[in-house]
Amino acid sequence: MSLKLGDKINLAIHDLAFGGEGVGRLDDLVVFVPFVITGETVEVEITELRKKFARARLLRVLTPSPERVAPQCRYFGACGGCQYQHIAYAGQLRIKQKQIVDLFERVGKISQAAVAPLLPCPSPYGYRNRIMIRSQWNGPAKKLEIGFIRADNKFVEDITECKIVEPSLNEQITHVRAHPPPKGGIKVVLRVQPEDWAVPKDSFFQNNFFLLPKLVETVREFLTAGGARHLIDLYCGVGFFGIAAADAVESFVGVEYDQLAIAAARENAAARNINNGEFVAAKVEAVLPELLRKFSAGKTAVILDPPRKGCWPETLELLRQTGPAQVIYVSCHPATMARDLNILCADGVFELARVQPLDMFPQTQHVECVADLRRRN
Ligand SMILES: C[S@@+](CC[C@H](N)C(=O)[O-])C[C@H]1O[C@@H](n2cnc3c(N)ncnc32)[C@H](O)[C@@H]1O
Repeated sequence: MSLKLGDKINLAIHDLAFGGEGVGRLDDLVVFVPFVITGETVEVEITELRKKFARARLLRVLTPSPERVAPQCRYFGACGGCQYQHIAYAGQLRIKQKQIVDLFERVGKISQAAVAPLLPCPSPYGYRNRIMIRSQWNGPAKKLEIGFIRADNKFVEDITECKIVEPSLNEQITHVRAHPPPKGGIKVVLRVQPEDWAVPKDSFFQNNFFLLPKLVETVREFLTAGGARHLIDLYCGVGFFGIAAADAVESFVGVEYDQLAIAAARENAAARNINNGEFVAAKVEAVLPELLRKFSAGKTAVILDPPRKGCWPETLELLRQTGPAQVIYVSCHPATMARDLNILCADGVFELARVQPLDMFPQTQHVECVADLRRRN
């Protein structure tokens, strides 16, 4: 069949790829469609055509999945923030679990037995504590759009509220709209300050307070199971994991290149009377060789919580060479995590004991994972 842009076709959806797009097939061509569910038959319009795949826009659901629900947000589909509001929460969890298992098997060569069931978020809406609002002048409409980047990635979708953020952030959105920024592209970060942590305005803090206790519990449980006496908390932000696990080790050191975050980490430790650790303001790559010489490898655990792009290859190679007893890898980007785990585990240097996924980002394609790696003797 010779397909053209704009053609309307019926498609059976047989999978949801990582990122949330449904996957259908037309002869040899793979067709990706957002906002559908595995098992559905849908009518779509072809919007992009390549040699091996096409993209399409959902026109109509012909056979809906039993898991299809009405999205809570009126901007769903146009706004680029959420991908899964049309799927019942239990279905989202099952889909993400399958995606993680598939990805880790394919990229990380990790057996599915190592992946624990995804921990759900107690609050699947109204959970997010930090957002970036953008503004953009819409020339033809002579209007300043204030909101989030659209699902098509080009323009700003004007929004007055967001269903996945904490209610007080919606009040902040109303305030920004009432005092609009000057014309032109600007970004405003809105956040709910955590109660017990000093966090500078532009520094990182975990995005979902509701699942935070489980995240800490997971990291602590992995650490105590490994029995290390020293902890190196890399990419430590305001000291979150190092401080939360300080009583489980004799000594710890946190490394972070955001100097203001490190000053806050020292404050956070002092406020809790924690004095068996220190915080270093530096790039991980610059100080890791020295830190790994300082602590005895057999008694040391390393936490890695890098940005979405993952770790530098040099950092992973150094960990392979020096072989700390345990590496606990925390990530909100399973694809780069699976790539890095594959490197750490190559030639049997480290062994993956388990992976705990946590649904820190309901309604969206994103998911947090914590992996427990042990050095093999
Ligand atoms: C995902 S956040 C994790 C923060 C912290 N572990 C937490 O849970 O709050 C990643 C952190 O790594 C820091 N970072 C990014 N690249 C870095 C590098 N090359 N060296 C040191 N810190 C880095 C960022 O500033 C950010 O605070």
